[in-house]
Amino acid sequence: MYPIEYTEPVFRPPSEWKSLILQVTNGCSWNQCTFCDMYTSDSKKFRPKKLDLLEQEIQQVARSGQPVSRVFLADGDAMMLPFDRLVAIINLIHENFPQVTRISSYCLPRNLKNKTVEQLQQLKTLGLSLVYVGCESGDDQVLELINKGETFQSSLDALLKLKQSGIKSSVMILNGLGGVELSKQHAINSAKLMNMAQPEYLSTLVVSFPLGVERFAKAFNGKYAELSQRQLFQEMETLLDELTLDKTIFRSDHASNYLVLKGVLGKDKQSLLTQVRTALHQPQNIRLREEWQRGL
Ligand SMILES: C[S@@+](CC[C@H](N)C(=O)[O-])C[C@H]1O[C@@H](n2cnc3c(N)ncnc32)[C@H](O)[C@@H]1O
Ligand code: SF4
Repeated sequence: MYPIEYTEPVFRPPSEWKSLILQVTNGCSWNQCTFCDMYTSDSKKFRPKKLDLLEQEIQQVARSGQPVSRVFLADGDAMMLPFDRLVAIINLIHENFPQVTRISSYCLPRNLKNKTVEQLQQLKTLGLSLVYVGCESGDDQVLELINKGETFQSSLDALLKLKQSGIKSSVMILNGLGGVELSKQHAINSAKLMNMAQPEYLSTLVVSFPLGVERFAKAFNGKYAELSQRQLFQEMETLLDELTLDKTIFRSDHASNYLVLKGVLGKDKQSLLTQVRTALHQPQNIRLREEWQRGL
């Protein structure tokens, strides 16, 4: 039996497949983004896990002999926990897994509002070296319609604070989020946010609605039209074209994408653009995922 009993479902970034997932909170304290159904079931009601319970879980994993070198703090916004609680959790991790080299977490921009750069630097020194920030868009109109509770500026402030503290950021942008009408401004302003923040990692996912599009479309007052595959590629072309990144690892390989793209921006900008343009103009010459191969 696995030494930890999780409250399912548990989500983690694809790159954390090797990590021990520690559910330091259940669900998401915001839980109101209209595109996100990840934590909407009753069992995922938000609550932080008690420290003594967490200690028991960590000790059970340590006793099982499972090698642990990376830890991901789940669920949706573990960084909402106060600084002192995060320090206590990280100390427990180190006491039980001295070989841990990387601790990471999801992080909403507002999770950092009450944390100073000095505190973030301390967390970094203790091993919290990477956070995944779901910016989703850099466009204020889109951000309002999806009820993210963030703006271009609040997202930028958080990303710059992370940069100052030395914690790496991995940003997620959602392809298709503004529908057909806002597609262009979504791409342009998302690129602008990334250009000003220069995150270490950037990934794009295609917005998908496994439980139906109704909740999401409601805010658009009947004006939301989902992007076709071709329009998704056009939006990606605009985004890439507008990006002026110095050294950002770019991944568009999540299962929701039709076209898998990987590279370092700016070095690989032209090659990535060529691939998107091939998908647009000569789709027969490039490998695309079939609908059945896609997922969230
Ligand atoms: C588990 S969520 C946690 C992120 C964190 N709460 C935040 O907002 O920064 C991880 C990411 O999954 C992606 N996601 C959630 N719902 C999605 C959907 N319906 N379609 C595509 N991606 C989605 C979003 O990019 C989101 O930031
Ligand atoms: S995207 Fe993040 S902040 Fe928004 S509801 Fe989902 S988990 Fe919460």
